[in-house]
Amino acid sequence: MIKVENLHKKFEENIVLEDLNLFVKEGETEVVIGRSGIGKSVFLKCLVRLIEPDNGKIFIDDKHVLDLKLKELNNLRKQIGFLFQGSALYDSMSVEENLSFPLKKHTELSDGEIRDRTIEMLEMVGLVDALKKMPAELSGGMKKRIGLARSLILYPKIMLYDEPTTGLDPVTSKEITRLIIKMQERFKMTSIVVTHDMICTMSVADNIVMLEQRHFIFSGTADELMNSKDKFIINFLSTHLER
Ligand SMILES: Nc1ncnc2c1ncn2[C@@H]1O[C@H](COP(=O)(O)OP(=O)(O)O)[C@@H](O)[C@H]1O
Ligand SMILES: [Mg+2]
Repeated sequence: MIKVENLHKKFEENIVLEDLNLFVKEGETEVVIGRSGIGKSVFLKCLVRLIEPDNGKIFIDDKHVLDLKLKELNNLRKQIGFLFQGSALYDSMSVEENLSFPLKKHTELSDGEIRDRTIEMLEMVGLVDALKKMPAELSGGMKKRIGLARSLILYPKIMLYDEPTTGLDPVTSKEITRLIIKMQERFKMTSIVVTHDMICTMSVADNIVMLEQRHFIFSGTADELMNSKDKFIINFLSTHLER
């Protein structure tokens, strides 16, 4: 479903990604871990060309992403949900307007169908009551849940999450993690989750890769990660598990 070969990205002298390879099977969840500033967000953005990679191949759903013309790329992006860092809600729009916006823009659904879909997604994240609220009236965790509902509203085949729990307290983080698992079960998307939240990692991952010094230095299951003898990984886990 998602295949990355030989991906390179540098910003002037700063080489961030070098010869990255990744394969994510349909319906599976890949977690990308790694310390702050190492290139996780750049990697995720390269996949959908929000950042243009320098070299390599990216296949999503058998399409060669780097060869796509803008129109084809936009069509592909409609099938991909992206939960950015921060909530990415429009502050001047109500929750209802935020959710219905992608449906109005990208579908032919009637007003009634749009309303039904909006309520359906809000029910799924447990926030029907927030329909008429403005983002400023919501807590950080609620904004994240609305952001998740919004990124799923077009029923994407692929979900990309960038630090979905960062900046939230531990209880709210676990709620978001549970919600990600629930959405995964409901929609059976193929997903990539970037995070340094190890509880989230262990709960959602079918496979985990660790990005360090431009490369994926580890690929394996949660068990394999926990049992790694690599000094860097042991050190990373000891600092990230105690939080
Ligand atoms: N648009 C950009 N222009 C120049 N450098 C960038 C840009 N985006 C990210 N970088 C650099 O790429 C590196 C990786 O950043 P990022 O992917 O945001 O890290 P992470 O998400 O792992 O915390 C950093 O050194 C950052 O300064
Ligand atoms: Mg980042």
